[in-house]
Amino acid sequence: CFRPVSLSPLSTSLLLSSPLSSVLSSPSGLQGCRRLQSSAVNYSTMMLEADSQRLYVGARGTAFSLNASDISASSALTIEWEASPEQKQECLSKGKDNKTECFNHIRFLQRFNSTHLYMCGTHAFRPLCAYIDEKQFVMSSQPEEGRDKCPYGPTTGYTGLIIDQQMYTASQYEFRSFPDIRRNSPSPTLKTEDAPTRWLNEADFVGSALVRESEGSSTGDDDKIYFFFTERSQEQTTTYSHSRVARVARICKGDRGGRLTLQKRWTSFLKARLMCSLPEYDFHFNMLRSVFTVHGHTPRDTLFYGIFGLEWKNVKASAVCRFTLSEVQEAFQGPYMENQDSGSRWNEYTGKIPDPRPGTCITDALRAMGMNFSTSLPDDVLDFVRRHPLMSQKVQPWDRRPLLFRRTTDYTQMAVHMVQGLDGQTYHILYMGTDEGWLHKAVEVDGHLHIIEELQLFEEPQAVNSLLVSATQRSVYVGSLSGLVQLPLSTCHRYTSCYDCVFARDPHCAWDGAQCVDIMSHADRSILIQDIQHGNRGCENTEDDTVVHRSRSVRVGDDVLLQCELSSNLAVPMWTLDGRELQGYGLDSGFRIGTDGLLIIEARPDQSGQYTCRALENNVQVGIVTYNVTVRLDLPPPPPRPLPPPPAPLLPHSELLSPRNMEAMYLSLITILGGLCLVLTVVLLYVGFCLQAGSRGKYSLRAAAAAYPDRKRHNRNRKHHNSSHMELKTISNHCNGSSICNGISKQQNADTQDGGFLQIVPGEGHPSPNKEPPPPAPPLPPTPQLPSPPCDFPNGLSATLPSVLRRMNGNSYVLLRQSDSESLSPLCYSFTEELNRILEKRKHTQLLPRPDESSV
Ligand SMILES: *[C@@H]1O[C@H](CO)[C@@H](O)[C@H](O)[C@H]1NC(C)=O
Ligand SMILES: *[C@@H]1O[C@H](CO)[C@@H](O)[C@H](O)[C@H]1NC(C)=O
Ligand SMILES: *[C@@H]1O[C@H](CO)[C@@H](O)[C@H](O)[C@H]1NC(C)=O
Ligand SMILES: *[C@@H]1O[C@H](CO)[C@@H](O)[C@H](O)[C@H]1NC(C)=O
Ligand SMILES: *[C@@H]1O[C@H](CO)[C@@H](O)[C@H](O)[C@H]1NC(C)=O
Ligand SMILES: *[C@@H]1O[C@H](CO)[C@@H](O)[C@H](O)[C@H]1NC(C)=O
Repeated sequence: CFRPVSLSPLSTSLLLSSPLSSVLSSPSGLQGCRRLQSSAVNYSTMMLEADSQRLYVGARGTAFSLNASDISASSALTIEWEASPEQKQECLSKGKDNKTECFNHIRFLQRFNSTHLYMCGTHAFRPLCAYIDEKQFVMSSQPEEGRDKCPYGPTTGYTGLIIDQQMYTASQYEFRSFPDIRRNSPSPTLKTEDAPTRWLNEADFVGSALVRESEGSSTGDDDKIYFFFTERSQEQTTTYSHSRVARVARICKGDRGGRLTLQKRWTSFLKARLMCSLPEYDFHFNMLRSVFTVHGHTPRDTLFYGIFGLEWKNVKASAVCRFTLSEVQEAFQGPYMENQDSGSRWNEYTGKIPDPRPGTCITDALRAMGMNFSTSLPDDVLDFVRRHPLMSQKVQPWDRRPLLFRRTTDYTQMAVHMVQGLDGQTYHILYMGTDEGWLHKAVEVDGHLHIIEELQLFEEPQAVNSLLVSATQRSVYVGSLSGLVQLPLSTCHRYTSCYDCVFARDPHCAWDGAQCVDIMSHADRSILIQDIQHGNRGCENTEDDTVVHRSRSVRVGDDVLLQCELSSNLAVPMWTLDGRELQGYGLDSGFRIGTDGLLIIEARPDQSGQYTCRALENNVQVGIVTYNVTVRLDLPPPPPRPLPPPPAPLLPHSELLSPRNMEAMYLSLITILGGLCLVLTVVLLYVGFCLQAGSRGKYSLRAAAAAYPDRKRHNRNRKHHNSSHMELKTISNHCNGSSICNGISKQQNADTQDGGFLQIVPGEGHPSPNKEPPPPAPPLPPTPQLPSPPCDFPNGLSATLPSVLRRMNGNSYVLLRQSDSESLSPLCYSFTEELNRILEKRKHTQLLPRPDESSV
């Protein structure tokens, strides 16, 4: 549990392109994390009851009974249950995959009665089920036939419930069979209908929920079971022609099937489309990936959260929509769809609807008419049910739009946890797992999801395929292909200032005047500061001694970079000079403001003064750094600059921009770019060399972090906890054709998709004293002999580094700069050492006041 972690608060709600999150190493980030020590794979099912001390987990070939408060404890009990070699051989002879399918994947594990659990496994394409004695954690009988209850393979969509010792499952069981919703044991066995109207079309099931609607019902209503899936669309019309759509279907628990018509079939099956779309763009999310049911105080308060994706497999995007039970019920009360002339065309049915209303459960009104069970329903009603499984009305999400839409992230699993904030409101916290093994935690405020944090749980990217939240254990359990992880619900103490704590908007956390604490662990709540609604109030009177003060002496005509690292991706820099706000975007203003600093172009004496950088987030300004800048005439003038081409990429901007020197400028630019690419090649080659030399494979963020332990402890910066590691970033695609950039983008495909943002974070690029000296850097200005100490250089860049801040195109700069690493007083290195030590940052400074927000 020492995986890299990113704590950047992400975009809220509907930003189509969110501020970028930085991957970074912070071993402290996953504090309290525990891992199951086991060699099993495919952790796909989990069960933990509210008051239980044991977590039951189904993996490939093994079932576990774990101590829920610490899954890594040695008290784990296991049942080894792998398919026999003969069965595997038979599976292979059917042409199945020997790496995935010919194993026993445990896909179902639930409570059967007070003493026994029930589990089903694919058993190398011959499903079996078995009872488990809970106390002993052993199989209590020989496995029995599981063909009607469990799919044959590990990836088939599947959901199931045991209700009153009856098992309800939905899947496309066999490879070629129709999908089916079944009630299995003991009886009466019921299924969905295939003819004349097929009720389910290539349905891919993701979830199911029992809603006890009989409780407190004034009409004597029945309990209902809801099934969630994606299926091939039947109702293709001109207005929407999607090949797949998300659905909710429901059946009544008391259904017994019909007597003649719909014998051994559901009489209460109805389905409706689940909508999750961006209405203003007519952009539909049709693939349902995961559903979580939040049970309210009464059945009517039930909520369904769904994660939706796009139909196109190569486009990553996720949307989170929330549906109320009453919205779902309304669709089932509305008009039906009809398939006219058995063609492919479906329209709303406008004819007479038989009585009692087809597809309803048996209620008091029906019982009064002598219809106590579904078997006594009239034939015309059942025949109508048989031909009209689909409702016309679509189920719209709350507010008719997603709570969250994210590009470049595919969420795979979700769980919701409710917490009462200090303001007395109940907040829903969503834990969402991604296809690359990350966990995102978000809080819902006013119909928007604010992402609190992102945690990388597994070193190798792999889909999260099971997720469970326990309020009693105060833990989140995450299962994936290779492992099972337990995390605390929150880690408040990672926020080290009042503003960080409040900006995070984690309902578990509050500032107690000295640190960010879990509100559960704090008896005296009156002194706690928390602001979930706005995320900006309460810290006004807390002491702010974190502003850094620095001085810079520069000579006239120099370019000066005043660095200001913002602690959060949502923050925007605000600069003042002697109290006046600086707006440095015009060409003659003499300033440029980027996301990581302010650039004074060709300093003039009147630009001396006190510069202050503040981070603006959530309408709150937090001071970060103050520079006293003195522009001096008496410093020695810069050496004459040869033209063209200059050996060192150091040119004043006025010359570059003057039309007379256009030719020279282009030549210099080409030279600079060439030089830059050469430098990068050398660095990359060196890094590659180091990586090969290191025995731990690819790149280890842990190692990077370990190399600079104290830096991390002192750094309050959420975005760059460890700025010592190598980063290579660019937002635009200047070097698209070059092998360097291509090589990088392979490592960083996720970020590349978010507007071409590239980044490598290899930690083992640090030269250690024992290592070979790095290859020499390409032609560069001679390294001046430097006085030491102090090693602070007038223009904010290391004097050993060329001032390589260059205009690259319309409004963007490529900035090659060193990490701000004063605490290690690192500036007394030669350029070669410097290059290797800091792990050069080529960072792009977008000269915009806000991070990029593009639209569809
Ligand atoms: C479960 O783990 C906790 C914490 O390690 C321990 O205190 C407790 O005794 C364990 N319970 C069992 C039944 O082993
Ligand atoms: C699966 O089959 C391939 C080819 O038949 C073979 O090379 C490989 O070793 C097999 N893997 C396992 C785990 O049996
Ligand atoms: C639970 O079910 C199992 C398996 O059918 C049975 O052996 C056991 O007696 C049942 N336990 C109770 C308390 O009914
Ligand atoms: C199980 O693991 C295999 C790879 O070993 C993977 O292809 C498959 O999707 C996994 N299945 C589930 C249900 O996680
Ligand atoms: C239906 O149930 C009611 C009460 O539950 C009972 O009085 C009545 O006899 C039943 N009718 C039939 C036909 O079973
Ligand atoms: C910067 O200047 C202000 C006012 O001119 C002064 O009070 C402060 O001490 C200076 N800070 C440093 C670090 O020199």
